[in-house]
Amino acid sequence: MSASSTPVDERLFAFIQKQTIAEDAYLRDLRQAARQAGLPEIHIAPEQAAFLQLLLRGAGARTVVEVGTLGGYSAIAMARGLPEGGRVITHEIEPAHAEFARQWIARSDQAGRIEVRLGNAIDTLPTIADGSVDAVFLDADKEGYVAYLGQALRMLRSGGILLADNVLAGGHIADGSGGSATAQAITRFLAAVQAARSLRSVIVPLGDACLFGVKE
Ligand code: DHB
Ligand code: MG
Repeated sequence: MSASSTPVDERLFAFIQKQTIAEDAYLRDLRQAARQAGLPEIHIAPEQAAFLQLLLRGAGARTVVEVGTLGGYSAIAMARGLPEGGRVITHEIEPAHAEFARQWIARSDQAGRIEVRLGNAIDTLPTIADGSVDAVFLDADKEGYVAYLGQALRMLRSGGILLADNVLAGGHIADGSGGSATAQAITRFLAAVQAARSLRSVIVPLGDACLFGVKE
């Protein structure tokens, strides 16, 4: 027990999952319906959903922007962490995914608090005012992450939170030069994060790992 770091293996991770608040029935049903509807099975992990929700709640976030709605799983989880009057504006480029998400959001306990914007986020994000957002969650195409980072730093208020999924690139981030297109895109993103003087961040190894940063 003397190590200041404990590498998390499968046994320890199973323990962590058991200690985390469980996925509720609605999100479990959404996940199953998304699979049946042919959506890619790339939603965030349940323990990561719990982390995002509690983080937003603890920070008192009211306005959250998401890039990459998919089936609405993370948008619903995040909206549950917001106070009355809070809202999530989520961006989705694929019409079938946006339609699925809208239906499941409308039937959820978060109906009316989540807006799904269809289109390329890089075109629609500029309509959101500078410094008007409490938290941004990036979970879309990894090639776009550097551009989304620029928009996030513009939209976030001072003290606002940046979250980004998949920063271990499915485990391939440390494979060295070459690597998958995703790993290369995430490497460029993490370099841009390091270079952003207004952002301080850590990587939280839940799911495929989540970057958590705070804008100065
Ligand atoms: C992929 C994208 C994701 O956001 C994710 O969490 C897992 C996989 C992908 O594009 O393969
Ligand atoms: Mg993801």
